[in-house]
Amino acid sequence: GRFALPVVDHEVSPNLTALVGTFQAWESGSPTLPRVEDVTNAASQKPCVDAWLIGAPGCGFKPITELPPAAAEPRVGAFEFVSVPAGQWPQAPQVPATRMYFNNSDLYSLPGLVTYLYDGLLASTGAAEAAAPALRPKFKAFPPAPKTPEELAEERKVKAQIESSMAPMLFVLALMNMPGYAVFEIVSEKATGLRHLQVLMGIRVSEYWCSRFCYDFSKAILFYVVPAMVLFAAAGTVLACAETLVLIVAHLLVAYPLGYVVSTLFSNEAREGGTATAKAASTVFSMFLMLGFFLVYMAEIILTTLNVGLSPSDLQAIRILAAILSPAAALAFGLRAVIMCKAFGINIFSFGSVAATMSQWGLEQQLNVDTAGLPLLLMLVEAFLFWAILVVKEARQMKNDFMPVVRVVNKISRALTSCCRRKGVAKKRVSAEDVEDEDVRREREQMEASPMAAPGDAVSLLHLRKAFLPKGDEEEGTVAVADLCVRMRRGECFALLGTNGAGKSTTIGMMLRHFRPTSGSAFIDGKDVAASGAAVDSLYLQMGYVPQHNALFEQLTGREMLTFFAGVRGVPQRSLAEYVRKWLEMADIAEYADRPCGTYSGGNKRKLSLAIALCGDPRIVVLDEPSAGVDPAARRKMWGVVGRNLSGGGTVVLTTHHMEEASHLGHRVGIMVRGRLACLGSPLHLRSKYGGGYDVAIRAAAGKGVEEDVLPLIKGLCPGASVREQTTKAYAKVALGHAGKDFSLVHVYTALGKAKEDGVVENFVATQADLEEVFLRILRLSGEDPSIDLAENAEAAAAALTTFEEAVAYMSSPEDKPIHAPAL
Ligand SMILES: Nc1ncnc2c1ncn2[C@@H]1O[C@H](COP(=O)(O)OP(=O)(O)O)[C@@H](O)[C@H]1O
Ligand SMILES: [Mg+2]
Repeated sequence: GRFALPVVDHEVSPNLTALVGTFQAWESGSPTLPRVEDVTNAASQKPCVDAWLIGAPGCGFKPITELPPAAAEPRVGAFEFVSVPAGQWPQAPQVPATRMYFNNSDLYSLPGLVTYLYDGLLASTGAAEAAAPALRPKFKAFPPAPKTPEELAEERKVKAQIESSMAPMLFVLALMNMPGYAVFEIVSEKATGLRHLQVLMGIRVSEYWCSRFCYDFSKAILFYVVPAMVLFAAAGTVLACAETLVLIVAHLLVAYPLGYVVSTLFSNEAREGGTATAKAASTVFSMFLMLGFFLVYMAEIILTTLNVGLSPSDLQAIRILAAILSPAAALAFGLRAVIMCKAFGINIFSFGSVAATMSQWGLEQQLNVDTAGLPLLLMLVEAFLFWAILVVKEARQMKNDFMPVVRVVNKISRALTSCCRRKGVAKKRVSAEDVEDEDVRREREQMEASPMAAPGDAVSLLHLRKAFLPKGDEEEGTVAVADLCVRMRRGECFALLGTNGAGKSTTIGMMLRHFRPTSGSAFIDGKDVAASGAAVDSLYLQMGYVPQHNALFEQLTGREMLTFFAGVRGVPQRSLAEYVRKWLEMADIAEYADRPCGTYSGGNKRKLSLAIALCGDPRIVVLDEPSAGVDPAARRKMWGVVGRNLSGGGTVVLTTHHMEEASHLGHRVGIMVRGRLACLGSPLHLRSKYGGGYDVAIRAAAGKGVEEDVLPLIKGLCPGASVREQTTKAYAKVALGHAGKDFSLVHVYTALGKAKEDGVVENFVATQADLEEVFLRILRLSGEDPSIDLAENAEAAAAALTTFEEAVAYMSSPEDKPIHAPAL
């Protein structure tokens, strides 16, 4: 509005005339004009309200002539000076002298202004200085104006906004790590092979996920939700209500299955360094939640605060998008809604954003209050969706849905990088002709002739092949297993020998559905393991498995692990404890039974793994290097335990580096070279076929030489005899060839015995080639490593044995005596 300040007597108030004069000058654009602060500062007055919009041009204020007309801008009040000739008030015509504008939004701004004006007046006359002390406070201490209802509403709005944003933000941030941790646990279970082992041991996928969720959910409720609600109640925030609980539960219902779906993207293949992958996975997942939260939810707050000009419906759209993208954002919106709705008395679980209700606060600007109905609905729908995805994905566990995509991406990236990368040396490939002997070929031909598994077959592998895709900047992938055809019969122990990387574990992985064969198929009990169905699933319930890398719940004790798996295997509850005790005893780990198995030594972990695999007497047992890192005495005990299963009618598939183990346990042995079987047969068959037959180590008597004095003697009986190694003139090892075919062992023995009596030979011993020699010979024959020298390697193998006892056991075992024996 307009207000006229009557100036009663022009003459009596020359100072007012001066003041009016300055304003008139200012209105006409004089740069020297004082702002009102200058006027009041002269009297040390602090403005209690921001009274003036005016200011000198160039000082950041608008010149008065540019101000909008008073009527168009309700916050601007206008103030007019009128000049009245002396002694003519109030009848004389009032001539407008000057006009001032001021901030009119405060209730007390007009009286404030008038006071200012008189203050200024007084100050300019020097009266304030001269005024009696009693008068001073009147001018100096103008109390702050009480807040208007609009201001109060505004303040409340801001407070509610901040409160409603910050509290749930911290809340959600803490909660977001929990599904992340579940992802960590699941992915590390996968990477360590524990998940696969659980599946093999008979834990159903549905059981796995249900128990997983029960565990995660109750953990979250117990360790997070209950304390949080207590905290809210103690702090007296509006969050302490049933609606909050509903929203949190809904969030848990959606965030966990989302985490589970994310974890299915990680491969089920056990590998080294899997825990690092799991950590990365959980971090990425938590980051995803937090990022979704920060980027979208915080952006919304910032936009509102900055007033960027997004309409309420834009903001609403952003919120919905955020809630769809991130369950954490949905929860945060829900909690924000709880606070806002409680503050403004709106039904929390209604839908949409409520602006109309705000009119009761007399707000000119509308404040939108989101309700929690939509975020809640979204969370529930997504929870259902993620569970559905999980079910679909897990039901087709074997199928790697992303394989075609991975292939295409690999092809493109290889095409893009091939020009700037030097060609890698192609890995040496071996063809079937190079390595396979006639036994292997015969086995293949037999299997091709009757591809259906024979009744006696426990396992049959038909043209099994596995090619891994190239990793990193590898030029080409690895053919881990190539065209493997072999059958393992019921009740037999089949030992798969081979160097590291020969493809043994991959073969086993395909048998156990850990890997999907690139081509070919694996049959167990005549059933194709790649097929789906209850019949195939139930196969695994009758199988035991020792994975190459220990898959143990590190926090559980050996006893707990065994109890768990024996229980899964169906050992009755009442005899469980006794059963477990017996197995701990048998596996030779009773001493460590009650320590967490994470603390076990490598050997003891293997023993526990073996006990887990064999408990419940499975019909088929698959052992991937069961005795790696186990001491020789314990290894023999292990053989006993495995032998017990075999004599009970079980079938054992074994991989090992340990020749002695293979010859002890293996009814049949297959030696693998670069993914192919090189030879196949019983240990004795292989020995006689590939072993050099018999050697005889001879120490000649003093003054005699083996070559000149003893060799002619032997050559008479065994024309093919030749010195294999000669350490000194008096000591040499002579290769005889195959007994019965090339020579007669009895004749040679008799002749050497006579030479001993005659004082030509001091001592002699005949040794038969062992499996180790066969192994090395196969490697040499297949061109795997032409530098292999049999004798040297036997010693190197002995030297490479890790413990003293192992070396002693190795040396003292007649079977494994190195070819190059110490002096007799
Ligand atoms: N998951 C995998 N991804 C890529 N290559 C693999 C994978 N697993 C094994 N390989 C490769 O396959 C070959 C055979 O490995 P493996 O079967 O573990 O050998 P073994 O058990 O006989 O020591 C090796 O060259 C190995 O690098
Ligand atoms: Mg292996």
